[in-house]
Amino acid sequence: MRVGLLTGGGDCPGLNAVIRAVVQTVANAGGTCVGILEGWRGLVKNMSRPLDVNETDGIIAKGGTILGSSRTNPFKNAETDLPALRANYSEMGLDALVAIGGDDTLGVANRLFIELNLPIVGVPKTIDNDLMVTDFTFGFDTAVNIVTEAVDRLRTTTESHRRVQVVETMGRHAGWIACFSGIAVAADYIMVPEIPIDIARCVDVLKRHRAAGKNYGIVIVSEGAKLPNRAEFAAAGKIDDFGHVQLGGVGNEVARLIEQDTGYETRCVVLGHLQRGGSPSAGDRVLATRLGLAAGDLVVKKQFGTMVALSGTKIISTTLSAGVAANRTLDLGYYHEASAFFQ
Ligand code: F6P
Repeated sequence: MRVGLLTGGGDCPGLNAVIRAVVQTVANAGGTCVGILEGWRGLVKNMSRPLDVNETDGIIAKGGTILGSSRTNPFKNAETDLPALRANYSEMGLDALVAIGGDDTLGVANRLFIELNLPIVGVPKTIDNDLMVTDFTFGFDTAVNIVTEAVDRLRTTTESHRRVQVVETMGRHAGWIACFSGIAVAADYIMVPEIPIDIARCVDVLKRHRAAGKNYGIVIVSEGAKLPNRAEFAAAGKIDDFGHVQLGGVGNEVARLIEQDTGYETRCVVLGHLQRGGSPSAGDRVLATRLGLAAGDLVVKKQFGTMVALSGTKIISTTLSAGVAANRTLDLGYYHEASAFFQ
């Protein structure tokens, strides 16, 4: 059996651990793997490289993806790209594909399975933790740790200068990163896409904390958080193949409003792609490895149109259709717990 692997969409720590585990599982069953470069673009443009157990054994600690990634959507220019993709799949001599990606990449995988009958197994990934069926995605834990470390550093300078520090995190549709890191850094206030921003309430909390003796403040804002009656903040108007705008800027506006309404000097740091960089946490390496092993098993058993997922502590399989049915927004129970500290 010859299995093609690709990683698509925004990269995240843990992708290489999945690649290693799939390669090992397929090799254990007597098969071989081929790495398709730069997500779906590699299948459209015929870009691949061999993958073997020896080479992939040492990649578990490496961030990013050794295969490269892109936000290519072969259904955007379907008339030319789908026939090319089909032809290259055959030319590479593939019997199956493993697609490692978020909602966009797995959405394409689902359509290719249904519409072109391509034998595909999916593995969910994203720092945003916003995929259906799977309780947590690898990459998320590392991203939350990066935000936590950054804010721990920001706290000392923020306190020295008696400032308010606004920190903008990633999380396009969902406030998972903002909420978890906000809890981890004992933020004074957290803003997530699921709840319209209430500046008056944030200002009230900051003033009360100051009156109680805390002479600085930390506010965590998800990039997708929205001010009432205003569109989301889009950086430079860029739109990708899947129609997503590049987000960014809400943190600066929140900082401006806080300073205006409190008189406290307020600064904003946008953490951006730092959250996706570097080595995966041990937890993400373990989760990614378990998902990769399970995906490899599904391929070997020819259970296509499926994807693996974490349910509680168990790795399960589900259909690609179920996995991409919708985005999974923040479970507001977590926000409720966080907000005990900013009543
Ligand atoms: O992969 C998810 C994500 O990190 C989002 O949180 C963010 O909005 C987006 O990707 C950024 O994508 P890009 O790397 O294309 O700027």
